[in-house]
Amino acid sequence: MINVLFVCLGNICRSPMAEAILKNLLEKEGLTNQVSVDSAGIGHWHIGNPPHKGTRTILDQNKISYEGMLARQVDESDWDRFDYIIAMDTQNMEDLRSIREKNNVQVSLFMDYVDDEDFSDVPDPYFTGNFDYVYELITAGCEKLLTEIKEQQFKEEKL
Ligand code: 4NP
Repeated sequence: MINVLFVCLGNICRSPMAEAILKNLLEKEGLTNQVSVDSAGIGHWHIGNPPHKGTRTILDQNKISYEGMLARQVDESDWDRFDYIIAMDTQNMEDLRSIREKNNVQVSLFMDYVDDEDFSDVPDPYFTGNFDYVYELITAGCEKLLTEIKEQQFKEEKL
């Protein structure tokens, strides 16, 4: 089982959107038993809350489930439980590094999985209000991430 954790600031807009989108892709490909997905926030403000209305609306429009998803805060034990920890922006990445450094966990930036864009942060729709654009970026990134995970697993199985 490969374990993926998406991290943003509040865990109500970007990282739960990524969690729902990647889970949906995994379901379509019949890979839900091979890859598990979760999300968490750097901040504590929204612990226990469902995704933001804007995230719920765009997921509803695209018939993607977010059932049962509630915000939680990043925990040090996440470094022991996840293979990939993916930060939605550079500040989240810095905050993650200050919480815990551990070399065998791949902590990366979400935008590294999005081709054709040369900025490093997924713009925060909590502040911009643009959930549609973020949905496009996150869909593209999740597709690339899944391709990479599949390639990596294939390579490891071949070893
Ligand atoms: P997110 O957006 O990190 O994409 O979930 C935010 C949600 C809430 C806050 C900031 C960003 N907040 O300050 O409450």
